[in-house]
Amino acid sequence: MRKWLPSSFYNTITIAGAAIAAISFGLILFLILLETLAAEQKPYMGIIAFVILPAFLIVGLILVAFGIFREHRRDLKGKHRDHILPRIDLNDPKHRRAFTIFSIGTILLLMFSAFGSYKAYEYTDSDQFCGTICHKVMTPEYTAYQNSPHARVGCVKCHIGSGADWYVRSKISGAYQIYSVLFNKYSRPIETPITNLRPARETCEQCHWPKVFYSKMEKVKNYYLSDEDNSKMSLTLSINIGGGNEESGVTTGIHWHMNIANDISYIATDRARQVIPWVKIKSLDGKETVYKSTDVKIPNSLINDKNIRKMDCIDCHNRPTHIYHPPASSVNDAMAANLIDPQLPYVKSISVDALEAGYTKKDIALDSIKTKIEEFYNLNYPNTASKMKDKIEQAIQEVQKIYARNYFPEMNVSWKKFPNNIGHLYSPGCFRCHDGKHVSSDGKVISKDCNICHTIFSEQFGNEKPEVSLTGVKYRHPINIGDSWKEMNCSDCHSKN
Ligand code: HEC
Ligand code: HEC
Ligand code: HEC
Ligand code: HEC
Ligand code: HEC
Ligand code: HEC
Repeated sequence: MRKWLPSSFYNTITIAGAAIAAISFGLILFLILLETLAAEQKPYMGIIAFVILPAFLIVGLILVAFGIFREHRRDLKGKHRDHILPRIDLNDPKHRRAFTIFSIGTILLLMFSAFGSYKAYEYTDSDQFCGTICHKVMTPEYTAYQNSPHARVGCVKCHIGSGADWYVRSKISGAYQIYSVLFNKYSRPIETPITNLRPARETCEQCHWPKVFYSKMEKVKNYYLSDEDNSKMSLTLSINIGGGNEESGVTTGIHWHMNIANDISYIATDRARQVIPWVKIKSLDGKETVYKSTDVKIPNSLINDKNIRKMDCIDCHNRPTHIYHPPASSVNDAMAANLIDPQLPYVKSISVDALEAGYTKKDIALDSIKTKIEEFYNLNYPNTASKMKDKIEQAIQEVQKIYARNYFPEMNVSWKKFPNNIGHLYSPGCFRCHDGKHVSSDGKVISKDCNICHTIFSEQFGNEKPEVSLTGVKYRHPINIGDSWKEMNCSDCHSKN
């Protein structure tokens, strides 16, 4: 056979390398073509086309070079060593062909790898990569995220932000995360707070100007009790978010006090930052006040700069997107929207119980929810069970949906593991400090007054006439528990269900 290229190309290693490189290259082109044509992007396609196949391509090319070099060395054995490296003679047609193929190949490869590495960069930053490649591990965060106000904001916008340094940091910790997934070393659930989460100043505040004035936000809340009639109550809450800046003259409310006019720092004694016995406030004029809890004593040894955290957006908005709703609140909302019919006796109570039964697997949970609710009506309300069959079926489906959105037994994730710090009903939230038990040395108390953060415009029980007042009605707890709602934190009872 006439040799078309220099003889050093004809050896097993080089030919195998060339074959590997050519096949990988072909596959990459094919996958890119598929990806452009496909309506929906497939997450694994990206990792194969931009990470795995290029690795094979490079291995193939290294093999080609290695084969040539080895062949050349072998040729030299026993001969006069006048040169170590191969000699390129462009007058020789074989050499010319090899040279042309090599040059065009290199140019193509350079262009291609520029494009490829950009795609790989873009790809490893995509929500799909974050949310689905680590499949089981991040399912809870990804699912909650897709049902949240930030569903259109990329994971990296909050978790990495812009700039090369955080990008590199995140890729380094990301490499560890891939390792921990492959070798099953990750914790269930993934721990928070994330110690290396970028400060809110560089993430949240890039989209939300901290000094924007929000005025008041009105929320209508509906609740159903656990009795046979699912007794309804509702209230209208006007939340004083406020904010503002000196320029516009309006400066009030939660954001103003907590985030702009004052610099607040604190020490938490637990990892989840739920127990806060020490708080310091520094006002714009430099005055400092320290509040200490009379309930939880903090040892002096813990009071040092290392433990002090400056409060930022995430200390209140710790669940801007990975929100796991408590069962009472999800079921209330579904009932208010008539997705679960409030006419069904005890439906609030049985739905919450079915959600909270503590299952070990999602499939088991969904099946058990169905049997639990069906059996409850068949056994206790056989008439209703046949007359309202459709409504019961609809309620079951709705409860199953709530479960799928908020409980992830395989990762031990639920609302109890990730309490939301906005509010104070189902977790301590604002009452971590505003429990009326944080006192300064001169006797000032961090306020628990029901009207500093919000005004309750109206409260209505069942079909009673609503109580309405623009300056705020006096709060009435839905069932009579005496004064304990004033003395205890709401979550002391409500976090237990
Ligand atoms: C709006 C900003 C934002 C977006 C967008 C976002 N996250 Fe988060 N994420 C957070 C915050 C805040 C925390 C809690 C940080 C803390 O308490 O230290 C968090 C926590 C997490 C945690 C730790 C477990 C937990 O629930 O606390 C994981 C894992 C996570 N995010 C993954 C993702 C993934 C995957 C995406 C994209 C699908 C994403 N995040 C999108 C803000 C965001
Ligand atoms: C890339 C831009 C971006 C970043 C970064 C971002 N947000 Fe948002 N945020 C948005 C958008 C867009 C909305 C939705 C606005 C809407 O629907 O009206 C939103 C909505 C919100 C809301 C209102 C939610 C509601 O219930 O309506 C809060 C609170 C919030 N963001 C807090 C945060 C916090 C805290 C962070 C940092 C962890 C953050 N955001 C980071 C863009 C961003
Ligand atoms: C002291 C706690 C606290 C801090 C700190 C805080 N917020 Fe808020 N923020 C609230 C509360 C309470 C609301 C009312 C929203 C609600 O009840 O769901 C709110 C509402 C918002 C909203 C929604 C407004 C709307 O109309 O939907 C945005 C956006 C927001 N905050 C962004 C931020 C950003 C950005 C930071 C950091 C610069 C921040 N917040 C710091 C407590 C806080
Ligand atoms: C880390 C402790 C801490 C947490 C958590 C906290 N606060 Fe505060 N808050 C303070 C301190 C300290 C002050 C200032 C008390 C003073 O006047 O010296 C304050 C003051 C306020 C004020 C002004 C009170 C007044 O007397 O006018 C509002 C409004 C407020 N906080 C709302 C909230 C809301 C809403 C939340 C929950 C989303 C919250 N805070 C969570 C520590 C905290
Ligand atoms: C430090 C601020 C603060 C104080 C003090 C405070 N609240 Fe609230 N409250 C909030 C915030 C923030 C929310 C959350 C609003 C939301 O769901 O968006 C809330 C929510 C509520 C809700 C609705 C609960 C839900 O999630 O459905 C009720 C009811 C309520 N508060 C009653 C009270 C009563 C009664 C008091 C007095 C004992 C009180 N609050 C004191 C900040 C406060
Ligand atoms: C001593 C325990 C206790 C304390 C403290 C307490 N509650 Fe309750 N609360 C209950 C009980 C019991 C019910 C009835 C539950 C049911 O029927 O499902 C209830 C019912 C409710 C409901 C309606 C049921 C639902 O959907 O969650 C709301 C709203 C509520 N409480 C708000 C509050 C608020 C706000 C506070 C704090 C200011 C508070 N509670 C403090 C025991 C308590």
